[in-house]
Amino acid sequence: MINRRIPALLGTAALLSMSVAACAANTSEADSEGGSGGDTLEIVSWWTSGSEAAALQVLFDAVQEQDPGLDVVNAAVSGGGGSNAKQALNARLQAGDPPDSWQLHPDGELTSYVAGGNVADVSDLWEENGWAGQMPADLAALQQVDDAYYTVPVGVHRGNVLWTNPSVLDDAGVSIDAEDSLDDLVSALEEVDASGTTAVCLGDKDIFAAGQLLESIIISSIGPENWNGLFTGEYPFDSPDVRTAVETYGHLLELANSDHSALTWDEAALKMADGDCAVTLMGDWAYGELVNAGNEPSDDFAWVPFPSTQPTFVYVGDGFSLPADNISNEGAAELWLTTVMDPQVQTDFAVEKGSIPALSTADVSVLSDYQQSAAEDFQSLPIVSSLAHGQVTTAELSQEYADAVTAFNGNTNVDAFISTMAAAQQSQLD
Ligand code: GAL
Repeated sequence: MINRRIPALLGTAALLSMSVAACAANTSEADSEGGSGGDTLEIVSWWTSGSEAAALQVLFDAVQEQDPGLDVVNAAVSGGGGSNAKQALNARLQAGDPPDSWQLHPDGELTSYVAGGNVADVSDLWEENGWAGQMPADLAALQQVDDAYYTVPVGVHRGNVLWTNPSVLDDAGVSIDAEDSLDDLVSALEEVDASGTTAVCLGDKDIFAAGQLLESIIISSIGPENWNGLFTGEYPFDSPDVRTAVETYGHLLELANSDHSALTWDEAALKMADGDCAVTLMGDWAYGELVNAGNEPSDDFAWVPFPSTQPTFVYVGDGFSLPADNISNEGAAELWLTTVMDPQVQTDFAVEKGSIPALSTADVSVLSDYQQSAAEDFQSLPIVSSLAHGQVTTAELSQEYADAVTAFNGNTNVDAFISTMAAAQQSQLD
């Protein structure tokens, strides 16, 4: 039950000028054994946290193993969720100066790039390599626009996971279970608060983190079918259950660290593991980050799918695409795509990233207990796309949501949030 996207309404995205914290990182000397003889491969992503950078390095090492003469230029732009990277990339695309490949989300975000004429059709590579037969059909479909493939999926993340500190929960005498109702969850967090410890760690310096918490609450409240209905117009944003979800989110903000707007997602996750709070909602890239920082799974931290009576897997996908025009090194860029689609590379990447491989031919038996449980849930649960990561709908509606969450964090005005999103939903359908 992966969400079907609604038709893209995107024109050219509005561009903001910004300074780019891109950096060259990983270069190698010209190949003495043949290979590309010193070609460069420039990759844009937003993978700059400890675990993200380690996972990206796995991919760089793998492509350099294929072509030892290749100079890989790491043009990562920091900022969780990628809003800074996307702005920097859009400026380059407008200037006709694309990198050789860049990170993107499938589904709605991919559709926006295709509508803008930015990404190359890589259907031939899919055909030659038989990739569609190596993953669930619904997952393959989300890498397509109008039956053509424009990206390759390197990994699958789950967005709706609550990371917990077992000692803090024990000290407060509470537990949180996947089958709990939202009211149960709120009661448990209120008890943590009453015990004198902050209940929720949030790091929404990059607003996606708050948007992701709210989307988890909404999905938990209305279920996966109605979540999809929000983007097809079959379910209204101003329904009572969405309103209740926003009120619940407002309450969780009261139970969160007061400096949340100054912290990044990874800082919030580490605060949770340090015992500064009981829980943090984050995609399972937090698993990679917590382990990368030396935390022991099940001991220093634990996890539970965000509680819901209608269990759902919120899909956040990572992929890479090639520019439609002005590509500087097509051979190296195609080698990059085939490398990140190698089953062993996907497993090695997942070890660092906390994700699961997109390819069902990749070995998951070497992954952690958490990741194996995520892989099982990905096969068995209803799957929906994330709004906070711009997957489930157009770039415009995703941006309206991010802006509405930012406004709500300041004014906690439920009516204003609901009416803004109801109007945004309507304008997508007009
Ligand atoms: C998501 C991305 C993840 C992770 C996260 C935080 O958009 O899919 O791989 O990087 O942002 O930066």
